Amino acid sequence: MADATDLLDAGERLGPDELRALQLERLRASLRHAYEHVPFYRESFDKAGVRPEDCRSLADLARFPFTTKADLRANYPYGMFAVPRERIRRLHASSGTTGRPTVVGYTDNDLAMWSDMVARSIRAAGGRPGDVVHVAYGYGLFTGGLGAHYGAERLGCTVIPASGGMTARQVQLIQDLEPSVIMVTPSYMLTLLDEFERQGVDPRATSLRVGVFGAEPWTEQMRQEIEERFAIDAVDIYGLSEVIGPGVAQECAETKDGLHVWEDHFYPEIVDPVTGEVLPEGERGELVFTSLTKEAMPVVRYRTRDLTRLLPGTARAFRRMEKITGRSDDMVILRGVNLFPTQIEEIVLRTPGVAPHFQLRLTREGRLDTLTVRAEARPDAPSEVREAAARAIVAAVKDGIGVSVGVEIVEPESLERSVGKIRRIVDLRPRDAGGPGEC
Ligand code: DLL
Repeated sequence: MADATDLLDAGERLGPDELRALQLERLRASLRHAYEHVPFYRESFDKAGVRPEDCRSLADLARFPFTTKADLRANYPYGMFAVPRERIRRLHASSGTTGRPTVVGYTDNDLAMWSDMVARSIRAAGGRPGDVVHVAYGYGLFTGGLGAHYGAERLGCTVIPASGGMTARQVQLIQDLEPSVIMVTPSYMLTLLDEFERQGVDPRATSLRVGVFGAEPWTEQMRQEIEERFAIDAVDIYGLSEVIGPGVAQECAETKDGLHVWEDHFYPEIVDPVTGEVLPEGERGELVFTSLTKEAMPVVRYRTRDLTRLLPGTARAFRRMEKITGRSDDMVILRGVNLFPTQIEEIVLRTPGVAPHFQLRLTREGRLDTLTVRAEARPDAPSEVREAAARAIVAAVKDGIGVSVGVEIVEPESLERSVGKIRRIVDLRPRDAGGPGEC
């Protein structure tokens, strides 16, 4: 695709030295803002013996304490806010699969910055002012729908606020309203694919040109599958509610080589997930973010639990993060071997005869934990192809990951379909069988 350099905004045009200087200035102000207005940060900085003015270089950030999801929960609902409630213009909340949800808030300026970052992201993905953008991320407390919506409007696009669900109608809307960009989770894009096929509509013949996919991990194999089946460019968008929502990092359409972190607003670090030590650039570990410009809810060294590594910039001067391999919470430890659902996705998607739909089922027989990969057969795959697929998956997991798993090739359309973020792991082990993810 054509070079979009002439479309870059002021932040994207900063040279490396200017960027570092801006980051340090913003970081110092943000640490001060957090310390002065959020009792939690005052206490945690005091306990660690650091003051905002101790941050004299970007490297000094490592002296500051981490913030975790548990800290946000403990301060539910408004305890992490740094401005009076009257200045909070919008609330969002995480789904909170366990325990209390976490609430995040935005001032007018935060909403404007968020829209700017999503607009920048859509532009990096290949969207342009005047495009029609179909938003099928869920609208509501989840940040996906409204985040994408305001960003697309900010860029000057026409937005279809479809939200998630009512899949048949989504296919109709795409045919009638002719969007060129779709923003949706990759797993729901596959649900849409099934629906196109059910309605006998060629998914390659739509007006769609670009897909901006995120909110869950997905692999290069999934990118290939979606790009081929829909004849679009598929790029990755990353974000989390605690930092802002979608639009923290974005892959550029011209390179598709990982996601540029919008570092003029969100400062990334990679730390060792166990020791918390900052790792050198290029090493894999847990992604940690410090907000540089947020007013309502500044975050200092927030532990995302997402695993990736930082790489130098390419299409933009900002550093890139590699596609997320998984979250530390999604890691299954099976007989001492660490396994992520994305590793299984890579294998399933390159196996002939199986559809890109799978689920990981954890069970316990006696004292032994077992993982069964349940993958759907493609409708046209005869039984000998299905049997070969099962054997191929068992062998690929054993060779590639180093652990034995069971494989069941199930009937087409028999696995639950995603309407938003997909749940890959179904844990059927007895409740007292160790901590989550531990086998
Ligand atoms: O999922 C925000 C979002 C909406 C991002 C739409 C992109 C598109 P949360 O619900 O707070 O926010 O979940 C955040 O989702 O920590 C990751 O584990 C995961 N995640 C988000 N984007 C990606 C991605 C939104 N591109 C959590 N690749 C994060 C892998 C992702 N995982």
